[in-house]
Amino acid sequence: MNYSSIKLSNLSLFCLLLLGTLVSCQLDYKFYDSTCPNLTKIVQAGVWSAIANETRMAASLLRLHFHDCISNGCEGSILLDDSSKFTSEKNAFPNKNSARGFEVIDAIKANLEKACPSTVSCADILTLAVRDAVYLTGGPYWFVPLGRRDSLTANESAANANIPSPFEPLENITAKFTAKGLDLKDVVVLSGAHTIGFAQCFTFKNRLFNFDGSGEADPTLDETLLASLRSVCPNKDDSDTNLAPLDQATSSVFDNFFYKNLVNNSGLLQSDQILMSDNRTASLVVYYSKFPYWFNRDFATSMVKLGYVGVLTGQNGEIRKNCRVTN
Ligand SMILES: *[C@@H]1O[C@H](CO)[C@@H](O)[C@H](O)[C@H]1NC(C)=O
Ligand SMILES: *[C@@H]1O[C@H](CO)[C@@H](O)[C@H](O)[C@H]1NC(C)=O
Ligand SMILES: *[C@@H]1O[C@H](CO)[C@@H](O)[C@H](O)[C@H]1NC(C)=O
Ligand SMILES: *[C@@H]1O[C@H](CO)[C@@H](O)[C@H](O)[C@H]1NC(C)=O
Ligand SMILES: *[C@@H]1O[C@H](CO)[C@@H](O)[C@H](O)[C@H]1NC(C)=O
Ligand SMILES: *[C@@H]1O[C@H](CO)[C@@H](O)[C@H](O)[C@H]1NC(C)=O
Repeated sequence: MNYSSIKLSNLSLFCLLLLGTLVSCQLDYKFYDSTCPNLTKIVQAGVWSAIANETRMAASLLRLHFHDCISNGCEGSILLDDSSKFTSEKNAFPNKNSARGFEVIDAIKANLEKACPSTVSCADILTLAVRDAVYLTGGPYWFVPLGRRDSLTANESAANANIPSPFEPLENITAKFTAKGLDLKDVVVLSGAHTIGFAQCFTFKNRLFNFDGSGEADPTLDETLLASLRSVCPNKDDSDTNLAPLDQATSSVFDNFFYKNLVNNSGLLQSDQILMSDNRTASLVVYYSKFPYWFNRDFATSMVKLGYVGVLTGQNGEIRKNCRVTN
């Protein structure tokens, strides 16, 4: 066996393991090497300047990509505005008044259209931008398989149905992941994205004042954190859009403190803290709280896996000229 055949068989084995089914590798690391050689530089410059302006944008991009992939595949449908043919996913409950980062993708797309017109999909731009956002905030770097194409439509009801909510039990969240070929470990690992970014008060206020209709705070929430969150999110409707960091300890650094927080009852969202309520997920949380290296490695692996969900390739979809509208 010569070197190239070893490489090839390793690659097929990787694809096999990755997707759990017998499919060929649809994406390719070198997809744009000849058609857009400066792609990675252009994307990284755009992400760098967006994060330099506002650190929170790293988390916003990560969330945008996750919401795109989990609703009906990583095909850039979340980037589409309303049109006469469909309602935008931006109007779906999990995205409305919370999805951010569209201007960052638009700016990168505009630069790419100058360098290599009608070549790079919006879905690939978002996937690459998220890798850079994680890396630039201190997280791992990984290579992104490319060649995704953009959807011709958006599906608001899919976004409403498929994006996990912070109020759901673990089994419901897990079901939404497994429906897309992701597993329980991916739930734990990708939840680690909450090591950066902020959440609006309405997503966790029930834990501060009226947990499960008890009229009391969530008994699993650390007392000191409870007091500080109550001051950020007083028990009034007008505090609903105030922001609290998902990781109180190191909110702008991509590290493993998200897991350390869960271990000491300091997770912000109920959907995060419940990872400690199941043996199988709790043991992984404890493991990642101790071993940042393995969290980084597994996060990169799960992100590549997420990036394969429902991709359009070959002749399917299109390469949008403007990420907000179909051609
Ligand atoms: C890539 O960017 C460099 C400058 O960074 C530029 O000189 C070169 O022409 C670009 N290549 C292409 C193919 O656009
Ligand atoms: C910089 O971030 C602020 C929010 O903090 C935003 O309003 C503004 O549009 C951003 N500017 C640029 C150039 O991205
Ligand atoms: C949109 O998503 C919903 C919910 O997942 C699904 O039932 C429906 O068939 C989808 N519509 C289209 C046009 O794909
Ligand atoms: C969890 O999923 C079950 C079964 O689909 C559903 O009946 C229930 O309403 C869901 N719970 C929440 C809180 O979404
Ligand atoms: C929980 O852990 C975080 C991160 O290590 C730390 O910042 C915080 O103070 C801890 N809280 C308690 C109550 O120990
Ligand atoms: C979970 O932990 C409890 C208590 O340690 C144990 O009794 C139970 O068998 C465990 N379940 C699983 C699925 O590991």
